[in-house]
Amino acid sequence: MRYSQIPKGLFIRNRKKLAGRLERNSVAIVHSNDQMLRNGDQFFPYRQNSDFFYLSGIEQEMSVLLLCPDHPDIDRQAILFIRQPDAKMETWEGKKLEKKMAKEISGIMNIQWLENFESISRELILESEHIYCASHELIKFRPEHSSRDERYLTKLKKDFPLHELKRLSPILTELRLVKEPEEQALILKAVEITKSGFKRLLSFVEPGQKEYDVEAELTSEFIHQGATGHAYAPIIASGENACSLHYITNDQVCRDGDLLLMDFGAEYANYAADCSRTIPVNGRFTKRQKDLYNANLRVFRQARALIKPGTTIDKINKEVGKIWEEEHIRLGLYSTRDRQKQSKDDPLYMKYFLHGSSHFLGLDVHDVGSKQEILKPGMILTCEPGIYIPAEKTGIRLENDIMVTSEGNTDLMKEVPIESEEIEELMRR
Ligand code: GLY
Ligand code: MN
Ligand code: MN
Repeated sequence: MRYSQIPKGLFIRNRKKLAGRLERNSVAIVHSNDQMLRNGDQFFPYRQNSDFFYLSGIEQEMSVLLLCPDHPDIDRQAILFIRQPDAKMETWEGKKLEKKMAKEISGIMNIQWLENFESISRELILESEHIYCASHELIKFRPEHSSRDERYLTKLKKDFPLHELKRLSPILTELRLVKEPEEQALILKAVEITKSGFKRLLSFVEPGQKEYDVEAELTSEFIHQGATGHAYAPIIASGENACSLHYITNDQVCRDGDLLLMDFGAEYANYAADCSRTIPVNGRFTKRQKDLYNANLRVFRQARALIKPGTTIDKINKEVGKIWEEEHIRLGLYSTRDRQKQSKDDPLYMKYFLHGSSHFLGLDVHDVGSKQEILKPGMILTCEPGIYIPAEKTGIRLENDIMVTSEGNTDLMKEVPIESEEIEELMRR
């Protein structure tokens, strides 16, 4: 575990914002993530529950946060429970949090050992009317495993059947969507590291390299620069592999004449960057590749201009689809006549542009927030148009991270080379 240097003021402010959104006389309880078993006695690398991290800054497993903002005793308004370190545990797993350190990171004055959670929470719950709980609220799917929060919820329902249970997720989603200045700075740092990774690749990629050689260069740069690693499994897809949107096998040879689509982002202090670039393996785009690339770049610019306060990702997606239609027709993928005849439910552009143009970014690469969310200053989202033509064994995507401002937006990745000529020039050197 590596403790980030985030000032505790961020977490104190985050808890205060949440407290302002709870009904009077409530407790809110959030658990850390489980350690996930890999096989045998090995665990996957630990990653904290983003909601829990947002409210506490604590990266340690088996921790619980209890908020009781209206409590007359100030020491009971926020309590953090952590496991009590013992010498044997520390010999095997390394240093665990002491109370003093947990206080310094989180700004929470009352730190308790986990074994006291049952009795203290019981007392506070019985003094309160509402219990706010966190749970997985993914629209796309329901995970097969339950989180510590969800297992705790089952117990709560049994132990306190007459209390009113309330959902924390919608409130935390709303809060997490607008990034505080400290969060913006951390995302910018992740972006900076991601940019260094890309620049390193421009002088590395050449025909004959394996996709995993490229991945190794990126990983090396990220780790050297203090990132915790990748914010998601990087996609290093040469040639037709780029047409599989979530290709992460990364084990093929990068061939002369092919394009290489790379979707990669560093994670810094638990905050993500998300970037895509597509480059010619041999350093020179062919005429057709450049036409496709420049079409994608034009769509990127127009899509970026759509990101501003008051709109939604849903609306942006629809607009970007229409912009792509013009470009697809210009590229000869279908005709104006085909467009006139197309089905409204299955538009032609979707054959070549198969995903959305934007998603929110933050503690998670696909951060909380729905496509119907009204954009506000301080929100950060991606802009990532792409074109995928299996018949031409080609896929291209360009992706930058964009922050909504009161005037429109600012491109956090404006310094990551994107012009086709600039890429060729940097690859020549
Ligand atoms: N890296 C995943 C995405 O671009 O959404
Ligand atoms: Mn993305
Ligand atoms: Mn991406």
